[in-house]
Amino acid sequence: MTSCIYFLVIFLSVCLTVFGQKFGLEQFNLVSYTQCRFDSDCVKISKNSFCFDNDADKIGNCKCRDGFDMVSRNRTFFACLGPAGYNEACEKNMQCQLILTENAECYNLACRCKDGAHLFTDGRCYVSVLLGDFCQSDGNCWMTGDNFGTCKFGRCSCKFDREVANEDKVSCVIGRDLGELCSNDAECTLTPNTQCRVSCRCAAGFVLSRNQTTCLSAATNFFDSCEETDQCSAFLTGSICTSNKCTCPEGFHGYSNRCIKSAAIGSSCSSTEECIPEAKYSDTVQCTGGTCKCVQGMISEMLGCNRGHNFAISLVGLIISIVFCRIL
Ligand SMILES: *[C@@H]1O[C@H](CO)[C@@H](O)[C@H](O)[C@H]1NC(C)=O
Ligand SMILES: *[C@@H]1O[C@H](CO)[C@@H](O)[C@H](O)[C@H]1NC(C)=O
Repeated sequence: MTSCIYFLVIFLSVCLTVFGQKFGLEQFNLVSYTQCRFDSDCVKISKNSFCFDNDADKIGNCKCRDGFDMVSRNRTFFACLGPAGYNEACEKNMQCQLILTENAECYNLACRCKDGAHLFTDGRCYVSVLLGDFCQSDGNCWMTGDNFGTCKFGRCSCKFDREVANEDKVSCVIGRDLGELCSNDAECTLTPNTQCRVSCRCAAGFVLSRNQTTCLSAATNFFDSCEETDQCSAFLTGSICTSNKCTCPEGFHGYSNRCIKSAAIGSSCSSTEECIPEAKYSDTVQCTGGTCKCVQGMISEMLGCNRGHNFAISLVGLIISIVFCRIL
């Protein structure tokens, strides 16, 4: 039984040796082909190696220290490759990535950060993210001059409170408030919906709030929501903000993009718009002779043009009244 195990061990070590020779020692990271008597014999060929399995009268083989990978070049030369930092010598991407993360590579025998990544102050490579885009850490927020922004609420931002991202998105500028002089739109982004026109102002389609600190969207239709009347009157002449909706004052109605005095059927008017809510009703009601009148033959209950106002029916009514008067 004991001899059986003994033979098995012999057999396995022979196999290992044969395969080791055949595929190169690199695969097993065991020992190099290089024979040695002292550690110095190995170190002069590659740093981080030592003479393994030698003693006073026995020749050993060079081996790499723990954490270093053996690469055999030929019968005598080998190298022990270990972790490499930024700009340090390397042969394989793996060496760089051990220290600099997977965003590093070995390029022209030196470690560097891959394209689209940058070295951060912690000595590692991070994917570069523009200001305003999604980030995971400050290391992503690379800016010109090897400055870094901060990753705030999951997005790259400028470090200081009054700073805003410049147009290039890799540098920060001091932000300007509404009304302050500016040189580009980016400087005005302290306030949303602004643009730079000599000074920071509300962008087209927005109006300055009463307290002059925000830009509110301007309504384009009656009944759009609002907080302040200026939002309504910007595009809808005469419109006011009532209960957070753009409407017209009492006694007026919205017609196209303005508020018009309302006139009922039979009331005095100076234009047809006063009599109708929309242009399409100008066939039904018109301002004639200074009065809102139903057009002959048109019926619209909504506008108050019912039978009573229909000429033919009125005539019948008149005849019936006359007949009644006679009877009485
Ligand atoms: C072995 O490799 C080294 C370094 O790569 C080289 O300088 C040397 O000439 C090679 N020797 C042989 C015998 O190929
Ligand atoms: C200014 O007005 C806007 C809109 O009404 C409001 O949202 C904002 O909180 C106000 N700001 C100040 C400082 O009062």
